[in-house]
Amino acid sequence: MNTATISQPVKKTATSVPKLAVGATVNIPPRRMDFGFQEATSPRHFYGNDPFLSTFWNTFSSLLPEGESFFVEAVRHYRDQITYPTLKAQVAGFIGQEAMHSKEHDAFNQMIKAKGFPVDKLDQDVGKLLKFAQKVLPKPMQLAATVCLEHYTAIMAEQLLRDKDHQAMMKDPEALKMWLWHALEENEHKTVAYDVYELVSGNYALRAGTMIPTTIILFAVMAYFQTRLLIADGQLLNVRQNVKGFNYLFGYKGLFPRLVPKFLDFFKPSFHPSQHDTVALLEEWRTLLFSKEDGLLYDQVKNKAAIGLH
Ligand SMILES: [Fe+2]
Ligand SMILES: [Fe+2]
Repeated sequence: MNTATISQPVKKTATSVPKLAVGATVNIPPRRMDFGFQEATSPRHFYGNDPFLSTFWNTFSSLLPEGESFFVEAVRHYRDQITYPTLKAQVAGFIGQEAMHSKEHDAFNQMIKAKGFPVDKLDQDVGKLLKFAQKVLPKPMQLAATVCLEHYTAIMAEQLLRDKDHQAMMKDPEALKMWLWHALEENEHKTVAYDVYELVSGNYALRAGTMIPTTIILFAVMAYFQTRLLIADGQLLNVRQNVKGFNYLFGYKGLFPRLVPKFLDFFKPSFHPSQHDTVALLEEWRTLLFSKEDGLLYDQVKNKAAIGLH
C-alpha cells in the first residue's frame, strides 16, 4: 500500500459539517445580522409618531454601542477563571451577541444622526464616562454594574416581546425588527453575567448596593441626553407632547411602573434571572423571527451555518 496515500489529510468536501459557534451549543447563538436602516423610509418620529417617545428610544440606543462593550469587557475579564464548560460556552455566546448589538445599534445610530440628532456626540460622551468607570471602579463592581444593567435590559426586553401595543408603536419596520432581535437575545443570555458574578464574587450586598448608583446614573444620563436630543429636534418646548410622552413611560400604568415588581425582584438575596420564566416566550419568538418557512428575520441572518440555522 502506498503510505503517502494513507498519510494524506482528509480533504474537506462540500458536505462537511460547518463548525458551530460555541454560543449556539447552549442556545445563545451569536446571530450576525445586517439591518438595512433607511433614513428615507424611516419616520423621523418612528415610535408612535411621538417626538418625546421616539427621542427616548434614540437616547437609549445612543447608550448601547459603548454600553454593550463595557458589559463585554466586564465579563471577559473573568473568562479564564471559568472552568465549567457550559458557563464558558454561555460567556462566548454572550460576548458574541453583545458585540452584534453594538454593531447594529451603531448602524441604527448612524441613521438617527443623518436625521439631525447628534447621537454621535452622545456616544462619545458615554464612551468617556465608561472609560472613566473602567479606570476607577474595582473589577467586581464593574461586573456588578453589568449584572444590574443586564437586569434592566432583560425586563425591558421581555416587556417588548410580550406587549403587542408596545410593538405596534414602532412605525419603522426595520427598527422594530432590530429591537425585537435585540430583545430576544437579551433574554437568551440574561443569566450569563449574573452567573459569572455568582461564581467569582457572589457578594449580595455589592450586587444589590450597586443597583442604586447604577440606576441613578442611568436615569440622570438618559434625562440629560433626552434633553439634548429634544433641543436638536426643536421639541424641548413642546410641553404638552413631552408631558404626554413622559406619562406614557412613567405615569400610572406606564411602561416603567409596570416593570417595578420585576425590577424589585433583583433585591431578593435568592434572586436569579431565570426566575422570570421566558422559556416559552423565547421559543415563540425564535419561531416568529428565525423559522425557515416564514421567519421575519431568517433572510437577514448572515451566519446561518455557524449558528445551526437551516
Ligand atoms: Fe445587548
Ligand atoms: Fe445583554
